[in-house]
Amino acid sequence: MLAKPSESCNTVEVYGNDIPGLLGEVEAAETALREAAARDTEAAHGEAAYFDAVIKADQKIEPRDWMPDSYRKTLIRQIAQHAHSEIIGMQPEGNWISRAPTLKRKAILLAKVQDEAGHGLYLYAAAETLGVSRDELVELLLAGRQKYSSIFNYPTLTWADVGAIGWLVDGAAIVNQVPLCRCSYGPYARAMIRICKEESFHQRQGFEILHTLSHGTEAQRAMAQGAVDRWWYPSLAMFGPPDADSTHSAQSMAWKIKRFSNDELRQRFVDMCVQQAGVLGLTLPDPDLRWNEERQAYDYTQPDYDELMRVIKGDGPCNRQRMAHRRRSHDEGAWVREAAAAYAKKRAADA
Ligand SMILES: [Fe+2]
Ligand SMILES: [Fe+2]
Repeated sequence: MLAKPSESCNTVEVYGNDIPGLLGEVEAAETALREAAARDTEAAHGEAAYFDAVIKADQKIEPRDWMPDSYRKTLIRQIAQHAHSEIIGMQPEGNWISRAPTLKRKAILLAKVQDEAGHGLYLYAAAETLGVSRDELVELLLAGRQKYSSIFNYPTLTWADVGAIGWLVDGAAIVNQVPLCRCSYGPYARAMIRICKEESFHQRQGFEILHTLSHGTEAQRAMAQGAVDRWWYPSLAMFGPPDADSTHSAQSMAWKIKRFSNDELRQRFVDMCVQQAGVLGLTLPDPDLRWNEERQAYDYTQPDYDELMRVIKGDGPCNRQRMAHRRRSHDEGAWVREAAAAYAKKRAADA
């Protein structure tokens, strides 16, 4: 019988003539390890092949499915950024809830801003299925390590800005997000279906505010035009940098997270807005905007991408204000989180 080496410092004496037997055992163990490694590799190949097949067949990857690490990380980054945008995006319009011109406008705006909070919740929940907690993501936002859409770093100077945000910003969000309803990750795609339905209400309410103003007094019409002049180019920048400079696009397209390129979506948005601006009786602030018969699309002036990069890096008109407000609200909400956690604990104990 073999003694454990620790029971004697003289292993040769203990093992004695058992050395050939011991070598046999080591060999058998090594073979078992090799076989297990081969099985794991085969399983990993099987899982990777399954993942590839699901993507190819336009089906959904679900939380329990195997997925490449980089796919998971890309989704966490994108969904978190999307969730943060919904939450920070409540601020520019929240600024006008107390000053909305009528009770009806106030009620509509309240409901709209509340919808955005709901979108943030669906999206944090979708991100949690990938193995991160909402707390972690919120911490990353507050520490400035995750981004939100740079559009929300612009100020809302007049009531017409609420209309322009609904029409242009929510409009751009719809163009961006409708293809995400077919994204390859199931929980994200399903969250987007509901979000898009609500976004289309947001877009209409913005359009209706601008329509009322543009058909009102001369001062109201000028206010509507001023807001469209301010929000047009930042809205075009919402689609991100041009395709040639877009770092994440190619891989996201291959994984079917993204279905159309930044430039394709931007073009779609421009073509949609030109028609609607006509109905509003407002002018899009681009002297070079014209129909291109050959391309069957409008030619337009690109937004200032240097400005976009400056705003993304934290130097927009309201970056500091937005983050300071979010941090303050987070601190002030600590008691609500504590109360909710205590209640959940009590419920769990009762059950
Ligand atoms: Fe939203
Ligand atoms: Fe919205």
